[in-house]
Amino acid sequence: MSNSVVELFAGVGGFHLAAKESGWKVIWANQWEPGVKVQHAFDCYTKNFPDTVAVNDDIANVIRDIPKHDLLVGGFPCQDYSVAATKAKGIQGKKGVLWWEISRVIKLRKPPYVLLENVDRLLKSPTAQRGRDFAIMLATFEELGYTVEWRVVNAADYGYPQRRRRVFIFAWRNNTDWGKRFKGCQSREEWLGEAGLFPTVFGTKLDKVGEVDLEPKQTTLADFTDDARPKARSRKTKDPADSERLLDISNNWQAYKLSPFKKTGIMAKGKVWTANYDAVYDGERKLLGDVLEPKVTDPWFYLDKDELESWKYLKGSKKEERIVKATGFKFTYAEGPLPFPDPIDRPSRTMITGEGGKAPSRFKHVIKDSTRKLRRITPVEAERLNGFPDDWTLTDTMPLNFRYFCMGNALVVPLVTEMMKGIQ
Ligand SMILES: C[S@@+](CC[C@H](N)C(=O)[O-])C[C@H]1O[C@@H](n2cnc3c(N)ncnc32)[C@H](O)[C@@H]1O
Repeated sequence: MSNSVVELFAGVGGFHLAAKESGWKVIWANQWEPGVKVQHAFDCYTKNFPDTVAVNDDIANVIRDIPKHDLLVGGFPCQDYSVAATKAKGIQGKKGVLWWEISRVIKLRKPPYVLLENVDRLLKSPTAQRGRDFAIMLATFEELGYTVEWRVVNAADYGYPQRRRRVFIFAWRNNTDWGKRFKGCQSREEWLGEAGLFPTVFGTKLDKVGEVDLEPKQTTLADFTDDARPKARSRKTKDPADSERLLDISNNWQAYKLSPFKKTGIMAKGKVWTANYDAVYDGERKLLGDVLEPKVTDPWFYLDKDELESWKYLKGSKKEERIVKATGFKFTYAEGPLPFPDPIDRPSRTMITGEGGKAPSRFKHVIKDSTRKLRRITPVEAERLNGFPDDWTLTDTMPLNFRYFCMGNALVVPLVTEMMKGIQ
């Protein structure tokens, strides 16, 4: 197999680092932060990968510049994927939805393989029709001629120091090595539990496999055969977002209370097999304490005494009446306690983009360090939680808070390295 990679939504290059470690070569990358003048993530990317062709523009403007490649990778925002019929233009996917840009790249360049990352909420969105957006995504892959394997992976389950749960989506064209492997596989159980990409890389104990159909009006998971509605035909359309089939799923996907898509699954020719699984892992386990810098001298990282009560309040459990200012609507707001400080003998909680800054917050990590004082984590510790090298995000212009923002957006690199090695 050749080894060229195109990296979309590249951020500070988590996929690129994994590619380097696993024998792939990124030949073209795209990163553009909408609505801001200074492009910190892009600057960080080019500082670390000066020899890679990297383009700083809205992906929608540069799709035709993308060269042919073997593997398309990217972590992209979870948005509303619904499609609508508009009077003027026929069917149109919602504007600005990055999934359609990805599907256009796939349609144009037909990469043999695609590896994508997203928040696990993707499997459950939107609330009123759980699973609809993922179904639209799977159906798009189907129309483009791909088979898809997905898995929600929590990095901490496989020894990494952060509890970060993300869905990874691996898609292949049928005429590839993975296509042949899939064709030769005896059963869906075998694929999801042993032979597929994810179980080859990550220890897996599979639950019972259930079936789902992408036909949107099912009353139960397995009840799709007697659906009398005529199927919207999968006709080739110029733009993936224009498909009647996707419009049908978008309009008619059931009001599921729970998503029919479980933690792992495959989609082949419009049929979906899906199951939950338990991680099997008995290797070394890294904990929050393992990534801490031994000596932090800058007082900026330590909690101010006069803000301690604020921190305690935000981290604590609460049940209180709140009012929506605009409407005067009253509601009860309740949340449980978070550990304060964060235990360093466990993997950390998920890092989010708001991790930076001095202000007290429920979600920022606070640890008691070797000086017995409370402090927030440093940017280097944030980088280590994602498996990036120290000071990866230290550039001439990157503001301190933005270093954390980039890490909140990024991924656990060695997890992806394992996947990319597995694809080879
Ligand atoms: C979830 S982050 C991906 C982070 C990346 N995987 C990493 O390791 O840093 C998504 C990225 O897409 C970028 N982005 C958002 N809209 C974009 C667009 N229209 N065109 C190109 N990039 C975009 C954001 O700036 C952000 O860096």
